[in-house]
Amino acid sequence: MISNSIRDNIKSLVRESADIVEVINEYVSLKKAGTRFVGLCPFHSEKTPSFSVNPHRQFFHCFGCGESGDVFSFIMKYHHLEFPEALKTLADKYQIALPEKNMSQEDKKRLQERESLYTVNEAAVDLYQRCLASGEGATAARKYLEQRGVPGAFVEKYRLGFAPSADVVGWSYQTDNLRRLSLSQKAIEKAGLAVEKERGGFYDRFRSRIMFPLLDMTGRVVAFGGRIIGEGKPKYMNSPESLVFEKSRLLFGLYQHKEAIRKARTALVVEGNFDLLLLAVHGIDNVVAPLGTSLTKHHVNSLRGYCSEVVLLFDADAAGLKAAMRSIPFFLAEQLDCRIAVLPEGQDPDSLVREEGKAGIMRHVDAASPLAEFFFDTLVQRHGLTLSGKGKIIQELKPVLEEAADASQKALMVAHFSEKLGLDPGQFMYGRPVEQPALKSIATKGGLLNLPRQERQLIEFLILYPEYLDQLQEAGIGKVVKGDVSQRIVALLKRLQGEGSNTPEQLLTLLVEGEERQYVAELLMGVGDAGNERNKEMVQGMLQELVRWLENISDQEEGLRLQEQIKAAEQRGDTGLLMELLQKKMIADRKRTGY
Ligand code: UTP
Ligand code: MN
Repeated sequence: MISNSIRDNIKSLVRESADIVEVINEYVSLKKAGTRFVGLCPFHSEKTPSFSVNPHRQFFHCFGCGESGDVFSFIMKYHHLEFPEALKTLADKYQIALPEKNMSQEDKKRLQERESLYTVNEAAVDLYQRCLASGEGATAARKYLEQRGVPGAFVEKYRLGFAPSADVVGWSYQTDNLRRLSLSQKAIEKAGLAVEKERGGFYDRFRSRIMFPLLDMTGRVVAFGGRIIGEGKPKYMNSPESLVFEKSRLLFGLYQHKEAIRKARTALVVEGNFDLLLLAVHGIDNVVAPLGTSLTKHHVNSLRGYCSEVVLLFDADAAGLKAAMRSIPFFLAEQLDCRIAVLPEGQDPDSLVREEGKAGIMRHVDAASPLAEFFFDTLVQRHGLTLSGKGKIIQELKPVLEEAADASQKALMVAHFSEKLGLDPGQFMYGRPVEQPALKSIATKGGLLNLPRQERQLIEFLILYPEYLDQLQEAGIGKVVKGDVSQRIVALLKRLQGEGSNTPEQLLTLLVEGEERQYVAELLMGVGDAGNERNKEMVQGMLQELVRWLENISDQEEGLRLQEQIKAAEQRGDTGLLMELLQKKMIADRKRTGY
């Protein structure tokens, strides 16, 4: 079992050490704006900054997409990590030791397994680098890199290495070497470097290859890509997926090039590892390469955090283009601009940059066409705009539409393409006109906004200053908190109070995704340091005003009740009771009016 209190202690220790502005600023350029910092949201597409970081409350919020949270949620969301890993990432960064014995068995096991994969991969980089520098067969490997135009400095920068041939060093050379470093066979196998033989025993997965270490966004080696030296099949081989490596999420070069991409605000996407390398050698380093797959939605999503535009630099072969077409919906979904440059027949970025230099590549980048238009035009060229041509175009576009993640995205594409074809959207999709699904809007505000003004002020006050819950309850919250949303929030606040942890940020963690959460987050974003004197005065002022308002309502209600009782007593002719009630009313009126 997790020891909650110890974990919480470490969590707060890390939280105290890790300044959220400093942490986020590594991924998003933040500018100071009053008491807050603002920048472009890494979680959705935008051209004007609505991502906001509140240093006093150590908390971020995006007014555009509603994403919010503390430094841990940021790291988790940004790197797709689980909490224990996010904690570890931050703890490592701030040199706080994590006592593993306080983690749950399961967390501990997973963390250790991941750690062991990093360790094995790191040791393997080292081994491959040494093999390239001086191992047997290294001369040919170095010559190969030289022939391909990769200078020593770039071999260093990308930590390229060499996995020797089995003919020369045997079939388990790497595995043996790694085991000599006390690395476990199991970890080496899990990292994908050793492959189990059918009849027992192991052999090295990568042989006679130039090795490209693949890094995650924290710079750790999670896998390798290996290119055969000279001819041979398969030409490229990647590590199998593991606890630390998901092929569809990783982009080769993104870690090394993230600053260049951010600066250029554009990322170039090429297909091959050597394409990337050679562009970098020629001074174009805002470039990434997927690992032999088409761009996935994860890729597009990670690029989104660094740039506002992507340019695909593809060779003219049909497979690459089809793959590019499938990524259209992802770009639409992320609202990330994408253009495509198709290189002349028989050229890839590698050969082109070697022949024509940086300028040759930049010419193609500048002339690249918007992705969706490009495909549409290609289809029109191929099929023509006759009736049957349009039919064929629709058929070819359908698989792209199928990739659309949700209805609004699909509607967007249908609208776009149908307009180009001069068709009704419904005809385009189903051969008949239909209503288009409404575009999802996150701009609508929660039920809180619809509350009567004073009730809303009360709820907002309680959210921001839950420490006054008791006092306000005494003054009679129950009489005014009528709406579903506000009742729910008061109930949540009571629950938090019961747990002894009623800070506004904690409330946020209880609210599920959605409008209320966004509302609360925005509210929190808007307030500065609660500790300073002027704020304290203001808070007291607000509190008194609310208490007065609540008491007033109580008094009014009391007055009304008396009024009715008086009426009833009068009708019954109960003079004794009547006198008593009139007296009460007089006292109440006096209190209310202050006389
Ligand atoms: P290409 O076949 O276009 O190779 O593969 P390339 O980049 O021009 O290779 P070089 O220039 O001959 O070295 C493009 C990318 O597809 C993946 C690799 O990531 C490669 O860089 N790929 C290719 C594989 O994963 N496996 C393969 O067998 C071939
Ligand atoms: Mn090539």
